[in-house]
Amino acid sequence: MAESPPSLVTLDKIVSLCKRRGFIFQSSEIYGGLGSTWDYGPLGVELKRNVKEAWWRDNVLRRDDVVGLDSAILMHPRVWEASGHLEGFTDPMVECRACNHRFREDHVLVGIGKTEDGPGVSLSAHGATEEEVAGRVTDNARKLGLKLVGPPAVLPMAQVSPKSGIKCPECDEAALTEPRNFNLMFKTFMGPVEDTASTVYLRPETAQGIFANFLNVLNSTRKKLPFGIAQTGKSFRNEITPGNFVFRTREFEQMEIEFFVRPGEDEAWHQRWIDQRFAWYQHYGIRPQNLRLRPHDADELSHYAKATSDVEYLFPWGWGELEGIANRTDFDLRRHTEFSEERLTYFDEESQEHITPYVIEPSGGVDRAALTFLMDAYTEEEVATAQGKTEKRVVLKLHPAIAPVKVAVLPLSRNQALAPLSRQVYSSLTAPGRWPVEFDDAQSIGRRYRRFDEVGTPLCVTVDFNSLDDHQVTVRERDSMAQTRVPIDGLDQHLQHRLDTSPPRS
Ligand code: GAP
Repeated sequence: MAESPPSLVTLDKIVSLCKRRGFIFQSSEIYGGLGSTWDYGPLGVELKRNVKEAWWRDNVLRRDDVVGLDSAILMHPRVWEASGHLEGFTDPMVECRACNHRFREDHVLVGIGKTEDGPGVSLSAHGATEEEVAGRVTDNARKLGLKLVGPPAVLPMAQVSPKSGIKCPECDEAALTEPRNFNLMFKTFMGPVEDTASTVYLRPETAQGIFANFLNVLNSTRKKLPFGIAQTGKSFRNEITPGNFVFRTREFEQMEIEFFVRPGEDEAWHQRWIDQRFAWYQHYGIRPQNLRLRPHDADELSHYAKATSDVEYLFPWGWGELEGIANRTDFDLRRHTEFSEERLTYFDEESQEHITPYVIEPSGGVDRAALTFLMDAYTEEEVATAQGKTEKRVVLKLHPAIAPVKVAVLPLSRNQALAPLSRQVYSSLTAPGRWPVEFDDAQSIGRRYRRFDEVGTPLCVTVDFNSLDDHQVTVRERDSMAQTRVPIDGLDQHLQHRLDTSPPRS
């Protein structure tokens, strides 16, 4: 059961901030948009790049047992036979004969309220929590003047049969079909002929590009077990019911590691990766109370997995998966050995045997991580104004490594006397090209501080009239709003130090 989220933010607030400030836009908006596809604007692209760079730095650059890869999106169709995706990468779909809406069966809950003698109250809901469905049944009964016997039952739709008696979550007609399996892979054709021989698929996960390159990487790097191959990149799934902004989309980015270990050492490595990945989100500022680990029940494990634990975040709509850490055993290397007739094994010098390594797979979503960083950082505060009143301050308390703009240079006013020095300070900070810096001289200084607070800029540098004489500027810190006077000479190093050592979020 979902607890109520501790943060103030609703999805509507985040969607609106993202559009207003240039993080995320509806894709093809001028043509009315395309379902569940999103474009990242100037700030969004920096945010997403920071998420990927932090991940790459921590999981590839800072380790000597993980190397990188960037494999093609289009792969030989046999890959998807070997991986099991052609046969089994399906979701159960039900359709409403009345309004033609389609739903993922496992995303629909059915609420049933029994009355002593009458027909009772039933309804179904898509994407709602059990509590919300029970509440709606009780409300409907009240409106109809019916007295329910006991609390309403709320069941996953899969447990209710036949489906034809269940009301459609969209139009309320009892016209749903039985579920049928729907393959989530996008199909396209390679070359000019559109026939089955030229069918290829947009990859639904980056992982298979890693397995297909196992020998190439092993032979070219001479890595010894245990070692991993990491990659980030786009994946595509024809989701039946995408939604919740960039949480579930049809085109998204993944960050995946396939970590190869000796059989028998897999369980210890699995636990190590679970711990490391869980800690990673907290290190970049996600509040611990909004994160949890959830081991999969046996009946929800993927066909390849011996065990999986998800890192979950408490979104406004309940707990949702950020990343899955799976023990994939030797399933993939064995299957690709069978289908490609290439022996995907490792020669173990200790035992002088060829072994098929087991695989631990931490697999996260870039878009989900970016959304989570935004939602968790969103804060509203009451602050005092210069006129002795209070006003609302919206702050994105993003970790400096994740914040899209690190520093803003703000002349106190547009007075021409301040322009040359302000521009000079700005150029000195942008020249090294270490981090994005913005220059802004429009509107009052207070408004500009608010604007940079709202996009999570950790530090603002203000050039004022005293700066012309003392060659110092004011550095204002986003969260505390504390201001420090700093010499322009050495400002760059001062800012870098503050960005590197910023205190953890309260
Ligand atoms: N290779 C394993 C794999 O792909 P997954 O749990 O299906 O596992 C891994 O996906 C991660 O990819 C998820 O935890 C999620 O963050 C992201 N992801 C999956 N489907 C997504 C979608 N439709 N939209 C956005 N992100 C998605």
